[in-house]
Amino acid sequence: MDSPDRKIPFSVPFIAGREMDNLAEVMRNGQFAGNGPFTQEVQSFIEGKFGITKVLLTHSCTAALEMSALLLDAGPGDEIILPSYTFCSTASAFARTGARLVFCDVDPRTMMVDVDDMAARITPRTKALVPIHYGGLSCDVDRIAQLAKDKGVTLVEDAAQGFDAFWNDKALGSFGRLGCISFHETKNLHAGLCGALYINDEDPEFQERAIRVWERGTNRQAVLRGVVDRYTWTDLGSSFYPSELQAAFLWAQLEAMTANKAERQRLHQRYEAGLRPLADAGAFHMPKLPQGLDSNYHACFLVFNSFQDCERVRLELKAKNIAAYIGYVPLHTSPMGLALGNRAGALPKTEEYAPRVLRLPFHNHMAPDDVDRVTGYIRALFA
Ligand SMILES: Cc1ncc(COP(=O)(O)O)c(C=O)c1O
Repeated sequence: MDSPDRKIPFSVPFIAGREMDNLAEVMRNGQFAGNGPFTQEVQSFIEGKFGITKVLLTHSCTAALEMSALLLDAGPGDEIILPSYTFCSTASAFARTGARLVFCDVDPRTMMVDVDDMAARITPRTKALVPIHYGGLSCDVDRIAQLAKDKGVTLVEDAAQGFDAFWNDKALGSFGRLGCISFHETKNLHAGLCGALYINDEDPEFQERAIRVWERGTNRQAVLRGVVDRYTWTDLGSSFYPSELQAAFLWAQLEAMTANKAERQRLHQRYEAGLRPLADAGAFHMPKLPQGLDSNYHACFLVFNSFQDCERVRLELKAKNIAAYIGYVPLHTSPMGLALGNRAGALPKTEEYAPRVLRLPFHNHMAPDDVDRVTGYIRALFA
């Protein structure tokens, strides 16, 4: 039954249709623990489609970030430069191996790293730059990659939200030495929980080490390939890969990725049509998709002129049974960020703009009418 107060959730996990068939196939195959035929199929598919040297499926993007910290040997004495405006996993993955987090400020036009600020924070101790790609946009990845090259530091892309998005025809996650992807149920394509590590490094020993770290820090995969006789503990690793059940589920989703993206593009265009005139009139900022970006249409977010405006819209939508979601709470002023020695006032743009971000409901189960309801209420508020 349609009604103006029908609930519009912020996010509804995508269902492609063939997930159960693939799960039944895992039952027939009898291999459940992971790195079986579905895992290998998904990895080779992503490598081929996006031109990635080596893909390892992980149980989350968090796991891919944690693998990155281990593979870079990021430890005490090393500094990692990352935005404060991100999800906590970007930070915790490197903090837990003992590296020092150096937060940088955002560019409020995109809510992604301000590259000048990132550059100014590079020191001889900097080990890696870890920018994120946010909400279906790409960070200024060409400039950041060049910066990393000039300064001799490693680029790790947190592309949790960037699967199947491209900058100048190159997949997000393929610019850095490592790229980290999320297939969490809140992402366009998912397996409940899942992720991937993109390894864009041709060095076979680096890739072999990544496989050992992925396989609980053992050379078990080399044993399975018949390269060595018996397996042993070789590296500091963990249990980083997903089960075959997740890989099988994900494979069904990937088969539907073209239709999924086309549908999201239609929703995004509808949001654009409903809100761009207000944005042009200065009611709020709505980031434009720049030329050169092939977005995955992960999200639609607005940056308001004040926190009060942002809250007014969020609460009005909530009263109409529509869930809109706040942006990231800056990590440097979070309880953990403060405990690590950061302080409020250090990143003025992040602190000013993060509370003004509102993410509108966006998922494949939304009808065009749902988008019109959301944009209609927002237009009414600014009339
Ligand atoms: C920028 C960013 N990095 C990392 C993550 C963590 O991803 P996962 O839930 O797959 O561990 C998220 C989650 O949304 C994210 O937004």
